Amino acid sequence: MKIVGKRVLVTGGAGFVGSHLVDLLSHSNQVTVLDDFSVGERENLAAAVRPPRVVTADIRDRGALDEVVRDVDVIFHLAVVCLRVSIPDPMASHLVNDLGTLNLLLAARDSAVQRFVYVSSSEVYGSAKRTPMDESHPLNPMTPYAAAKLAGEAYALSFHRTYGFPTTVVRPFNVYGPREHADGPSGEVIPRFVARALAGRPLVVFGDGLQTRDFTWVGDTVRGILMAAECDALVGGCVNIARGEDVSVLRIAELVQRLAGTRTPIEHQADRPGDVRRHVAGVQRARSMLGFSATVGIDEGLSRYIEWVRSAPLRGVSAPEEEEARNWQFASASV
Ligand SMILES: NC(=O)c1ccc[n+]([C@@H]2O[C@H](COP(=O)([O-])OP(=O)(O)OC[C@H]3O[C@@H](n4cnc5c(N)ncnc54)[C@H](O)[C@@H]3O)[C@@H](O)[C@H]2O)c1
Repeated sequence: MKIVGKRVLVTGGAGFVGSHLVDLLSHSNQVTVLDDFSVGERENLAAAVRPPRVVTADIRDRGALDEVVRDVDVIFHLAVVCLRVSIPDPMASHLVNDLGTLNLLLAARDSAVQRFVYVSSSEVYGSAKRTPMDESHPLNPMTPYAAAKLAGEAYALSFHRTYGFPTTVVRPFNVYGPREHADGPSGEVIPRFVARALAGRPLVVFGDGLQTRDFTWVGDTVRGILMAAECDALVGGCVNIARGEDVSVLRIAELVQRLAGTRTPIEHQADRPGDVRRHVAGVQRARSMLGFSATVGIDEGLSRYIEWVRSAPLRGVSAPEEEEARNWQFASASV
């Protein structure tokens, strides 16, 4: 099914990944964003070719969802409470990530929706039992967030099996790029490193830094999500979207040092318990079923990201004290 000339709903569309998906879809579709703006920002929607319709609503509000899904052909469901919030507050994650997904599926099930894409996460795999981690890798959620994402997947796929509702599950690995969060509980390793490097502060690496992640440029990720949505053969199934190459956190720190052109030191701190050692995607299914492969390498992506941060210096982390720094890489293989 080609997603052109469709009425498309993107939940969480004002967030990091969602807003890039809106940019891509807005070239040839009529896009509606549903977001409660708890984390997302209106300015993230400013780059869309055609401004999306914006509905400020909570994914837990069934009445609001009934209204919105009435006039849509395709749904991309990305609204989420992030991993770091799920650690101190598993219920918040459950209510939005799990029940919110069921709520949306129920609202959409009896509508004319032609495709429902649930954007899950590689977090559902937990630590790698074997690499690369393809879609048949065991599912071992390590955090309440991952558990809720897996429940969301299970609901989405069960709606296909039980009601014939056309759902597809996509599992992105670590995504990075413009609009990614540097501050607060959603802050991620690359924005933190860049902000600290540009502020002349040390880059804090936990343990030896040899833990690896499959970092994927956001433009590649959203292109893969759209390709997955368009693939009829994938309905009722799932696919990894990633580069398929892992890079160590230490290597990222070294690259940021070099590309930012600053001489900030790398500082090692104690390992965090539960930190995932290696995360790398099996991307064979994405290649064979979608013809997808990521095009932006880590050096190029980091350069582009640093350039973007430099274009608006206020995007840096404002007060990266050590206590705060301790939180930011928490055991997250992706989010
Ligand atoms: N960023 C990554 O590296 C990554 C990796 C794998 C998977 N994902 C998945 O991609 C999706 C988007 O992630 P992101 O990094 O862009 O997160 P994000 O936090 O930037 O975006 C989430 C959006 O959901 C909105 N939201 C939160 N609670 C809501 C609610 N109750 N009702 C309506 N909207 C609500 C937020 O305001 C925000 O705009 C998520 O489903 C996530 O699991 C992200």
